[in-house]
Amino acid sequence: MKYVIANWKAHKTVGEAKEWMKVFTQNDFSEIKDQFHVIIASPFHTLTTVKEVTDQYTFMSVAAQNLSHLPTGAYTGEVTAQMLYGLVDYSLIGHSERRSLFHETNEDVAQKAKLAKTFGIEPIICVRTAEDTIPVHTKFILYEELSSIGNGRNQPLDQILRSQKSIDPQHKYTFLYGGSVDDSNIQEYMGSDSISGVVVGTASVDQHDFYATIKSALI
Ligand code: PGA
Repeated sequence: MKYVIANWKAHKTVGEAKEWMKVFTQNDFSEIKDQFHVIIASPFHTLTTVKEVTDQYTFMSVAAQNLSHLPTGAYTGEVTAQMLYGLVDYSLIGHSERRSLFHETNEDVAQKAKLAKTFGIEPIICVRTAEDTIPVHTKFILYEELSSIGNGRNQPLDQILRSQKSIDPQHKYTFLYGGSVDDSNIQEYMGSDSISGVVVGTASVDQHDFYATIKSALI
């Protein structure tokens, strides 16, 4: 089973999320549901809306895009792993946008991963190079570099496989790729035995684009 993850980033009102889910789920999933697990990483305020729909489909799950490095407590504005307990199955952690724009460190990532695990949330650890350390008990890693995100400059498969050699030489992890994946290139990645799935950012903001992307990955 391979994974296709939508990362909406900082997009959508609750109403827009509802509409996205409504239109998206009107598509034909008869082949898709046997080949892929579809995960929607949506912003915090839309998680409940997305979950109400994903709960109706065994091949779909909901993920957070981030969670706090702090425990539940007097931390105004934070969303903690404990608060997300029972709401999300997965969380992206240490996305390259968070590392570069919000200065998240490997220590933050390790702390977040630990808190996620404590509350039954599977961390998807985002790494750019082998220098981004992978916390213990990690199952999923998402390889993505800022230079190929949101700009149409997706990495060729051979380059990804070279990076995989240094990041995950023993193929210990469920290895995902992210960076300008869309319907024109997803097949290349999903067709590789070394890659277990992809994260789709820009091409997931519109539900038609996302469905077209998943469709193009079908064998
Ligand atoms: P993108 O985002 O598809 O817009 O490049 C990918 C990601 O967030 O990993």
